[in-house]
Amino acid sequence: MRIDIVTIFPEFFDVLDLSLLGKARQSGLIELGVHNLRDHTHDRHHSVDDTPYGGGAGMVMKPEPWGDALDAILGTDPALVDDGPLVIFPSPAGDQFTQRMARELSLEQHLVFGCGRYEGIDQRVVDHYSQRGRVRLVSLGDYVLNGGEVAVMAMIEAIGRLIPGVVGNPESLVEESHEDGLLEYPSYTKPASWRGLDVPPVLRSGNHGAISTWRHQQQIERTERVRPDLLPRTLS
Ligand code: ADE
Repeated sequence: MRIDIVTIFPEFFDVLDLSLLGKARQSGLIELGVHNLRDHTHDRHHSVDDTPYGGGAGMVMKPEPWGDALDAILGTDPALVDDGPLVIFPSPAGDQFTQRMARELSLEQHLVFGCGRYEGIDQRVVDHYSQRGRVRLVSLGDYVLNGGEVAVMAMIEAIGRLIPGVVGNPESLVEESHEDGLLEYPSYTKPASWRGLDVPPVLRSGNHGAISTWRHQQQIERTERVRPDLLPRTLS
């Protein structure tokens, strides 16, 4: 997968050199381009924002640097191909990012993330690229971050680890929270007893059927307690 990111803080993404995603980049599973929006400004101060039309607090990101930066990645064809790059703007006003969305996005060939700051990006940037190709606004959750960078990091981590080959043991992806609509069961390792707390005996029984049943019950119990909204109506 190819991932391009446009941001005024390219250093934010230095951490993508680390860990599993760093390895995925080295092995060519993920190809990453991080682009500084300020490289696409043409004034002395490299301004990327201005006051909002209509008044109000804060600053809005200007459309011209965004147009130049995105055209440099996407090209200038008036219509991008149907299955061409998907442009994602992280925004608290977007569709909620979920494991299901991460899975869908992990099938894409080319993702382009545009990290807004301040009070957002001039709406015409979204409108223009929506006319030319596929654009989505995506929210990490119902809270406001200072900019899209942290949201993009989270999305890239969630998407990247679903690309075949990125996580060494694909089985470890199957039994995680949200993959089957439930939260994951609790996990334990050695020692069998720690500070007076014992590992549940069933996990040391060697009875795989009983272990599997226990884990599933734990998933349901935990989901009912913490996230009843995830349960189908018949279970809750
Ligand atoms: N930018 C600011 N807040 C955000 C959020 N909650 N999700 C995605 N992008 C954002």
